[in-house]
Amino acid sequence: MKLILLGAPGAGKGTQAEIISNKLNIPTISTGAIIRESIKSGSEIGKKVKSIIESGNLVSDEIVIEIIENRLKEDDCKNGFILDGFPRTVAQADALEELGIKIDVVASIEVSDEDIIKRLSGRRECANCRATYHIENLPSKKGDICDKCDGKLIRRADDEPETIKNRLSVYHEQTAVLKDYYAKKGNLKLVCGTNPIDQITNDIIGTLEK
Ligand code: AP5
Ligand code: MG
Repeated sequence: MKLILLGAPGAGKGTQAEIISNKLNIPTISTGAIIRESIKSGSEIGKKVKSIIESGNLVSDEIVIEIIENRLKEDDCKNGFILDGFPRTVAQADALEELGIKIDVVASIEVSDEDIIKRLSGRRECANCRATYHIENLPSKKGDICDKCDGKLIRRADDEPETIKNRLSVYHEQTAVLKDYYAKKGNLKLVCGTNPIDQITNDIIGTLEK
């Protein structure tokens, strides 16, 4: 199964990717997570993109396409994968096609900008295992400590109010057009992203079975 999760920042792509990845036993590939790891490790790419990601703008197509091309060659992608946050521009979607990859379903998780702003200001992420929480909707049982690994929960650098607004504009200007792109190819499914998390999971899995 080759699944793309499309959606605005904070729509719930990462939350759903983690659950579906465990259910279907296929890896999740999140370009955002890979880029944040490269910043943390102090790599050359990380140094180049730190200020871009922290301002909420997109990293260049060239860099992310190379990241995806290399990652998809790994053995664990043989039986399928979930792409979380890629593609984000038409050039990236075209690059995926040029790699000869046939995507089964593109699920777009639909949430209004208003809800996104509320969600992202309450999001917390584990600094160690990267599990995602929300202070009201999905709190850790241990407060600001991760339920899963006891890591410290932190706020992402790009979850500041001004940066959230910029990420939303970037989404509307450069990424939302991919809904038309995949609708024309016939594999776009819209999923309501304001339902409870487990219902959204069932809705996405339902689109894979049709
Ligand atoms: P990325 O890491 O992909 O961030 P994003 O797209 O902005 O999305 P988020 O991770 O913020 O949100 P999400 O949809 O995963 O939501 P989540 O599950 O956490 O990218 C970051 C940056 O990297 C980009 O800005 C760019 O600079 C760069 N980048 C990455 N990919 C790139 C690419 N392809 N090209 C160029 N640059 C790229 O959920 C959000 C919150 O809501 C959580 O607190 C969660 O608990 C809560 N929540 C989830 N579901 C629900 C629900 N149903 N009800 C209530 N609350 C919910
Ligand atoms: Mg995410």
